[in-house]
Amino acid sequence: MTDRYAVVGNPVAHSKSPRIHAAFARLTNQDLSYGAILAPRDGFADAVRAFIAAGGRGLNVTVPFKLEAFALAQRRSPRAEAAQAVNTLAFSGEGIFGDNTDGAGLVADLTRNLGLSLAGTRILLLGAGGAARGALLPLLEQRPALLHLANRTADKARALGEEFAGRAAGGCLESGGFAGLAGRSFDLVINATAASLAGEATPLPAGVFAPGSLAYDMMYGGETPFLSAARSQGADRRADGLGMLVEQAAESFLLWRGVRPPTAPVLAELRGA
Ligand code: ATR
Repeated sequence: MTDRYAVVGNPVAHSKSPRIHAAFARLTNQDLSYGAILAPRDGFADAVRAFIAAGGRGLNVTVPFKLEAFALAQRRSPRAEAAQAVNTLAFSGEGIFGDNTDGAGLVADLTRNLGLSLAGTRILLLGAGGAARGALLPLLEQRPALLHLANRTADKARALGEEFAGRAAGGCLESGGFAGLAGRSFDLVINATAASLAGEATPLPAGVFAPGSLAYDMMYGGETPFLSAARSQGADRRADGLGMLVEQAAESFLLWRGVRPPTAPVLAELRGA
């Protein structure tokens, strides 16, 4: 019988995950189907249980259910524990396993697709919500010289910084508000705020983008407000989050199927569309 997977969210109709996983299945000759489930906002757990009862093997979880998925998982990966959120569920006789592949997807996009080597670099991570939290551990594992966490609400960045301080090799993690960025410059600036969703750009002081730096928006959709602001502030390279989307999907596929699918042809297909 064909193994069943799906993405669950609300809304979910816009999701590119069914298309991405169908391409992965084709490229790796895996016999699986992958659908989309619109769960009512108060009905996430019921939707998951119904999917399991129908023989489902795994789910990707998107907005607004990543925290509920974390709570529902009976066992969780260390990276899910660090993120305090789950975007991938796997079902087996041992129950519900929760993982978080978002941060690994970000790092894979930066290193595999964009050719960055993060060791020894200066990284600025903007935001202190779920997206930033999920990125912290995978970024720290790349051993940057500095990871500076900046948020509109400085206290939230500081709290998150304190929480992850023990995971930062050589005390390379700093945190604070946007005002503290004056006079600083970075090799990589990652937007993990929700500002682009609202059509806004985070106000950054001049000089934040070092020569040759990359501006990266976790949101996808070409030239986001963050990326166009970055361009006018002199960021030499810019990338949206489409590669991260494909790479986090590949990490989920690996967890479920034991094979990491090729991502370059899938990313090229999505970019061409
Ligand atoms: P997510 O899970 O996507 O990270 P979240 O947990 O609601 O969403 O966090 C949203 C993040 O975007 C926060 O860091 C928020 O900053 P505050 O903590 O100050 O609220 C940030 N954010 C949202 N809109 C923003 C804007 N217009 N400018 C700058 N930061 C913004």
